[in-house]
Order: sequence, then structure tokens, then C-alpha cells
Amino acid sequence: MTTPRAAVILAAGKSTRMKSSRSKVLHHVGGRSMLSWVADLARSAGADKIVCVVGEGNADVRAAAEELGLEIALQEPQLGTGHAVKCAQGALSGFKGNMAVLYADTPFVSHKTLERVFKSLDNGTDVTVLGFEPEEPGFYGRLITEGGELTAIVEARDASNEILDIGLCNSGVIAASTQDMFSALERVGNDNVKGEYYLTDIVEILRGDDKTARVITADESEVLGVNSRLDLATAEVAFQMGMRQAMLTKGVTLRDPDTTYFSWDTAISADAEIGANVVFGPGVSIAKDAVIHPFCHLEGAKIGEGAQIGPFARLRPGTEMAAGTKAGNFVETKKAKIGKGSKINHLSYIGDAEVGEGANIGAGTITCNYDGYFKHKTEIGDGAFVGTNSSLVAPVKIGKGAYLGSGGVITKDVPEGALAVARSEQVNKEGWADRYNTAQKKRKAKK
Ligand code: UD1
Ligand code: MG
Repeated sequence: MTTPRAAVILAAGKSTRMKSSRSKVLHHVGGRSMLSWVADLARSAGADKIVCVVGEGNADVRAAAEELGLEIALQEPQLGTGHAVKCAQGALSGFKGNMAVLYADTPFVSHKTLERVFKSLDNGTDVTVLGFEPEEPGFYGRLITEGGELTAIVEARDASNEILDIGLCNSGVIAASTQDMFSALERVGNDNVKGEYYLTDIVEILRGDDKTARVITADESEVLGVNSRLDLATAEVAFQMGMRQAMLTKGVTLRDPDTTYFSWDTAISADAEIGANVVFGPGVSIAKDAVIHPFCHLEGAKIGEGAQIGPFARLRPGTEMAAGTKAGNFVETKKAKIGKGSKINHLSYIGDAEVGEGANIGAGTITCNYDGYFKHKTEIGDGAFVGTNSSLVAPVKIGKGAYLGSGGVITKDVPEGALAVARSEQVNKEGWADRYNTAQKKRKAKK
């Protein structure tokens, strides 16, 4: 049976080592904030209630947490991890079930791992701690075990040399029933080197109540904490390496994996091909047989089967390229739906637009979508031919199969099947250039 679940996300720390005016946990890894990674993790474990503990100085974290739909608990001043969890008690007052404590600066704990932690409680263990064996145990809390049972966690600063030799460490993730957690926290004191209320003390306290405690282990890469810009960069590299491997494994061709950059939600089908130096911001999906040529930047874009993008294309949010479409070099799109087989091959900006099927958008076509105050829409029908260097002044509709002469500034709707020419008529003056050149050459020779 699965007991109801809750999560408490600790985010009240000061994060001075980040040297940032923004709170540490709002810095991005893989295209979203660390806080958002952890909120998602809690949600994926089926947590009905998620409480984020913030300090008074973290107004930005509070706002972001609210936006993510988390409940807020204030911890002021910050007297340690045990005190932080206790501050969430009010927010969890109506809740009875199991709870896990997560850190907002530890973004990569996997869904599977957290599930194992909660399952361990479901299976009857009273306290479960996520442990790991770091290369450098340093200042991590040490897990003391006896015959498969966890008996205590000792913080490195309070540990004897003998305890410091233990390689099994506390990741920070600790889970128990709300009842046990808060009953133990009532009894946690601050008689230790840091003078803080340690969450880790609940293990010994609950063992004294004849409760059981166990360790579940994870790889160090999952419990990587971010404290500095260097850590942030390390986390980003780890994320990108993981994504590259996952993409290659599922059958996506990456021409130069080290130069392909993903976001947390990048979705690419097998048999798509990605060239060198391509960056995927959040919200990109790519269907099979699509090719993203080198040096493209995509964000919030849906790419259909067999589409060809780039090189050097920038597809912004709201772009939908249907099957068999093309967006070539130096093409920018935004909020643009491009119908099957339509082509925008060169040097264009297509924004706030809907293009039908089989249309051809000539080189240098610009949708003039903004009047300085409002955005307006451009609609282009199936099979339309937009001549090169066209300015489409929105709102404007180009009918099916219409033909726009090159260099037009199109301000009026064009009916289906019509030709629109919107430029001044050409005037040829016979012999003018010859007369001009002769006169100018003479003047120059006299100087
Ligand atoms: C903690 C653990 C340690 C573990 C390590 C893993 C305790 C006592 N120690 O140590 O066993 O190995 O994490 O990284 O729990 N926070 C608050 N309010 C506070 C204090 C901290 O919200 O009053 C938050 C911090 O923002 C951070 C997290 O809790 O997200 C951990 O705090 P930190 O001070 O880094 O704990 P460590 O000393 O690293
Ligand atoms: Mg820490």
C-alpha cells in the first residue's frame, strides 16, 4: 500500500558562495531552475503536498516557489536543517503520511531513487536516509550502520577520526512519517560544533524510540550539490553529458555530441539528425527524419517529420514546422505555424504568422508584425508564392495560390490566385547611364 506523500524542500540558505544577487536555487541547469527540478522530482513521487522553506532574504525564491504551486514556510532566522523542517510543520498540519526532505540545491536526484526512498517507508522502515559514497567525503555527515541498520548520522565537524574514516555519507534526503519526523524534531537540540539544530539527529532519537532506520544508496552524480558557479558549471556539464548519451542511445544522430546542448525537456525522436553547434532551449520536440543543420538555436519549437532546419536558423517559442518544411540559413521564426512542405529558405523573419501547405516564402521576406504597440497576424494560404524581399505589413492575409511580386510592401489582403505588385513601376531612360558616365569622367580628369 502506498501511504500519502509530502515533501519539504529546504531553500532558506544564504548561498554566499554563488556570489549572485539572485538566490542560488533559482540559477538554471539544463534550462530550468534548480528549484523547479526539485519541485518536479517531488511531484513525480506523487507528493500531495510540497512545502518550500524560505528565509526572509529569499523573496525571489518565495515568488518562484509560489509560481511552481508550492506551499511556503518561512524560516527566520536559519538555525539549521532540523529547525528548517520544523518550520514546515504548520503547513503540513492537516497532512498525515510520509514525508521526504529534499534540498533545493541538489537538482539531480532521480525519480527512481526518490521512489525507492518512499517505498522503503511503505515497506515498514521508519526512517530512510539516502546515502552515497563520495570520492571526497569531506564535510558530509557520516552514516553509522550496524548489521544493515542505520544507527546514527554524525556531522563531520562533530566526528572523531574513526568516524571520519567512514565512506558512506548523508546526501541530505531523509524521509519518515510526519508523526515520527515532527516528534523527533521536538527533541533535537543544538549542542554541537555549529550550534545548529541538525535534522540528522532524528535518526538516533527515533532509534531510541525503537524505530527502524535504513540507508538507500545512490550514485554520487545524483546527489551533486551546487554551491558555487564552479559547481553550477559542473552540474551543467554532467546534465549535458547525460542527455547526449541518452539521445545517442535512443537512436538520435548527433554529428558532434560535445557541441549539442539540451534542455531538461528536449524531446527528439530516433532517426532525427542534429548537426554541430546546436542549442536547444526549453520546449523543443523533433520528429523522426528531421535534420537540424549546424549552428541553430531552437526554443519552444515543434519540428515535424523530415523537416530541414538551418544551418544558422533561430526558431523561437510558438514555432511549429510541419512535416517536410524547411527553414534555412538566417531565418528567424516566432509564433509561426508553417504548413506541410512549405519553405522559408533564406534570410527571413516570420513572426505571428500562419502559413498554409506548400507555400514558398522568398529570400528576405519579413512579416512586419509589430506596430510599436501591438502585435498583428500574417496569414499566408496554401501554395502561395511570396516573392523575395517582401514586407508583409500585418494584419494581412495572402490568399491560396496568390503570387507576390518581389520587393513588395504588402499592406492589403491579396485574394486567392491573384498577383500583387506593390512597388513603384520601373522607368528605363535610354542612353542615360552612358551620358552620365562620359560627363563624370571628364570632370574627374580636369581635377
Ligand atoms: C547537510 C547535512 C549533512 C549532509 C549534507 C549533504 C545536516 C545537519 N547536515 O550538511 O549530513 O551530508 O547536508 O549536502 O542536515 N538550510 C535551510 N535552513 C537552515 C540550514 C540549511 O533551509 O537553517 C538548507 C540549505 O539552504 C541547504 C540545505 O538546507 O539547501 C543543507 O544545508 P547546509 O548548510 O548546506 O548543510 P550541510 O552542512 O552541508
Ligand atoms: Mg551543504
